[in-house]
Amino acid sequence: MFAEHGGTVVNSWNEWDPLKHIIVGRADDTMVQAPEPAVQRDWSEYGFALGTYGRLPKQMEQKANEQLDNFAMILEGEGIRVDRPTPLDFSQPVQTPDWKQESMFGCMPARDLLLTVGNEMLEATMSYRSRWFEYLCYRPLLEQYFKDDPNMRWAAAPKPRLTERSYKKDYWKNFDNMSYEEQIERAKARDWVLTEAEPLFDAADVGRFGKDLFVQASTATNAAGIDWLRRHFPDHRIHPVHFLEESPVHIDATFVPLRPGLALINPDRPCLVPGLKELFEKNDWQIVDCAEPAHNKNAPLSFCSQWLSMNCVVLDTETVCVEAGETAQIKQLEHLGFDVISVPFWDASPFGGGLHCSTADVYREGTCKDYFPKQVEGF
Ligand code: NVA
Repeated sequence: MFAEHGGTVVNSWNEWDPLKHIIVGRADDTMVQAPEPAVQRDWSEYGFALGTYGRLPKQMEQKANEQLDNFAMILEGEGIRVDRPTPLDFSQPVQTPDWKQESMFGCMPARDLLLTVGNEMLEATMSYRSRWFEYLCYRPLLEQYFKDDPNMRWAAAPKPRLTERSYKKDYWKNFDNMSYEEQIERAKARDWVLTEAEPLFDAADVGRFGKDLFVQASTATNAAGIDWLRRHFPDHRIHPVHFLEESPVHIDATFVPLRPGLALINPDRPCLVPGLKELFEKNDWQIVDCAEPAHNKNAPLSFCSQWLSMNCVVLDTETVCVEAGETAQIKQLEHLGFDVISVPFWDASPFGGGLHCSTADVYREGTCKDYFPKQVEGF
């Protein structure tokens, strides 16, 4: 079946080499998850007051699945193989010996969970109890890739305990009572909900640039998680980064690689680590402010911001998929030399994010290259 890649199923080193095989998530049965130490949803205007939880409305789910299926079809039309996860009943309560959680979440944002680095697919620890079992949705695919590809490395980061020790007590309650300035001061100090009791990270906090991986410290990824990744990928250079944002989660609406020499940054979220700019300048990379988003706030029942506008999927160094309504972003990417494929996706966003969030790489052509031969001491 995989004769076209010489028997290799899994291979992807960056975000821009020619894409041949990808996973696209599903919206089925996605939940507004039950409250837990890491997450508290308060969407009273849409029927989910603080403390309540339940399935996202079926009508919304249907629209989201239509957009996800259409995205998968567009990719297939570009000659890309698309696989889909197997949803679970996410409304069921789950438990480990340490805790019980009244619901799971969903399996739309494949990117959050699966990190592909070369021939390895790594299941992230995740940091929400509602997402602890989400890896099961991808197991049928991972098992198959492992059978079909004798060189595939299949790894799972240590499953976290997620006891009370992993979270700062009453973090969100205190956060909601803070001024914006206080929230930003805490963010500058990387003082978010997670403690350092154990390594925690989401795969979507990692930006893949060949030999260099940029890992965002966030509300889902702690310093121990970044350290775990550094030790796990000893042949890579792991650069911890963080950006000016009160509650960051996932790097791909903040800092997005487009092709060798070019990345997009969110102008509202400047990088707080000086080494990043220096590294990019030294190696003749340009970092361009992304265009204005089409919306000025997130979609109803969405935990993602309007900056999903920059959450694009690069098919190769000349072609990129962008959300169809993001006209300014489309124009900017065309101006930067890309052929843009516009993909309607706004209705899918409450189920886990944008185009990039909904995918996880399986195969891109290419090898591990060093795009930053001139490194910055201490970064
Ligand atoms: N947390 C990000 C989304 C990441 C894809 C945002 O809301 O902008």
